[in-house]
Amino acid sequence: MNSSVSNQKFRCVCDILDRYEHKSSALIPILQAIQEVYGYLPEDIMTYISTALKISPSRIYGVATFFTHFTLTPKGLHVIKICDGTACHVNRSGEILEAVMKHLNLSDKKRTTDDGIFTLETVACLGACGLAPVIVVDEKAHGQMTPDTAVALIEAIRESDREQEATA
Ligand code: FES
Repeated sequence: MNSSVSNQKFRCVCDILDRYEHKSSALIPILQAIQEVYGYLPEDIMTYISTALKISPSRIYGVATFFTHFTLTPKGLHVIKICDGTACHVNRSGEILEAVMKHLNLSDKKRTTDDGIFTLETVACLGACGLAPVIVVDEKAHGQMTPDTAVALIEAIRESDREQEATA
């Protein structure tokens, strides 16, 4: 990240703290707003928040790890959510998950590709059970997926990124 972007983001953090009047009781909305700025909760920013709100780093870390909504690591450029709710599960979403993990060389512990392009998440029902099994890529839902169509979708995204880079 270049320094002007990083300064701009840090200014946003200061604005967020001002908006919530540096109240420790507003820790959760503050963390949510910061995650919207960075896409995750950077360690150095959590340390800063700890000092600014006079809350121990361990308490902030506890909150950030308790809620699954928060993430402590940067996400990839594209976020793939594979639904593992009941309707998707019985329609073999597990096989899709396995195929995507294998294709992207990911595991339960490693959820973002080394090149930072893809992050894989599993989620409970996405509210589109009639289309099960469903995956959502960058907020766009794709229904009735199979392991093969999921992998093909990922490759189509890669190809589209390459084309955009070539014309940029
Ligand atoms: S269970 Fe997957 S969309 Fe509802």
